[in-house]
Amino acid sequence: MFRKTYLEIDLGALKYNIGQIKEKFPDYGYYFGVVKANAYGAGIYAVNSMVEAGINYIAVSSLEEALGVREINKTVPVLVLEPICFEGLSVAAENDITVTVDSKEYFDKMLSSGIKIKFHIKVDCGMNRFGLTDKNDVEYIFKNANDNTCLEGVFTQLSSGQGARYKKQMSLFKERTSLIDLSLVKIVHIDRSLTLEQHEKIDFANGVRLGIVMYGFAKMPPELSMKRRIFNKLTGKKPPEASKLKLKNVLRFYSEVLEIKKIAPGESAGYGGMFDSKAETLIAVMPYGFADFSLIDKTQVYIGEKKRQIVVNYMDVTSAVVDSTVSIGDKVEIFGDNITPRAASRAANVNVYKLITSVTNRVPRVYVDGEKRTEIKY
Ligand SMILES: Cc1ncc(COP(=O)(O)O)c(C=O)c1O
Repeated sequence: MFRKTYLEIDLGALKYNIGQIKEKFPDYGYYFGVVKANAYGAGIYAVNSMVEAGINYIAVSSLEEALGVREINKTVPVLVLEPICFEGLSVAAENDITVTVDSKEYFDKMLSSGIKIKFHIKVDCGMNRFGLTDKNDVEYIFKNANDNTCLEGVFTQLSSGQGARYKKQMSLFKERTSLIDLSLVKIVHIDRSLTLEQHEKIDFANGVRLGIVMYGFAKMPPELSMKRRIFNKLTGKKPPEASKLKLKNVLRFYSEVLEIKKIAPGESAGYGGMFDSKAETLIAVMPYGFADFSLIDKTQVYIGEKKRQIVVNYMDVTSAVVDSTVSIGDKVEIFGDNITPRAASRAANVNVYKLITSVTNRVPRVYVDGEKRTEIKY
């Protein structure tokens, strides 16, 4: 790496988090690691650490992503969560990739193709993205699947894990699978990271899909829950449960100070005077921009034990106001342990999913596992 801007992935913390989840939620047979969008930006290399920590099924959103997983792991089962084009089916079969069926027509075509393939039925329970809504179609697929066109799982995606919306979705799931014997289906998976802790375990589900939680984001981490409790006490609302999970941060995004500029009063910095200096100001110039991280506008960075306000950002360069304690070569944390990803996402007014997937592939990923550091450029 010549330009010192990189995303560090703490594989030890990732494995620890998966261990926590399995310890606190031990009653599942299948722990899916959802690694769509290049493992939420962490990079597909992380898959093998996930498997080492007990993830026993990988889920992605496209055939391309599934093939990317196959390049680094030939044996872990891989499910594509969204329907793939029919032309891709033989490629999926050749690479032992499980597909999703979300319509009777697709199933019929698959059946008549003679391609030997495993599939999961997706049931739509109100997300209105993909999935079957007619119980007769679900029954038809269940009854006509065979050893060649092999039904391995049934799943749905919840839009919420609590309250009236959750109840409605669960009753739709039960209704839409009411003509089949779910106990004969090898894997039934409904929950994901953030719904897992919101309700009692669904007795007939033996799989859970884990995405964001692996990187350290629980629905209600203890520190947030405490703040929320105080707020709710004041407002009279029911306090939320704190998460059972004590998770570690996995992702740290770093750059360095490449230049320091002294700007005199009345001078400006950036195109068209993005920053007008009223007093003498020092700005640190850092080698990353919106081509590396599309959310930098208005956020802060952490340099020399302090948060610093970003004042200028370009495609490749960002500048922040600093003081004389900052030197060329100092490490810059864009997010990490001091500005946590959760805090950075709040500052950028997005959710953490968007924050971490906003680190582009121009940024190398550095995987840290104990003493071992592995750099990968996607
Ligand atoms: C179908 C499906 N399942 C599971 C997940 C994982 O979600 P989370 O990161 O909240 O665990 C996703 C992510 O978007 C998804 O689309």
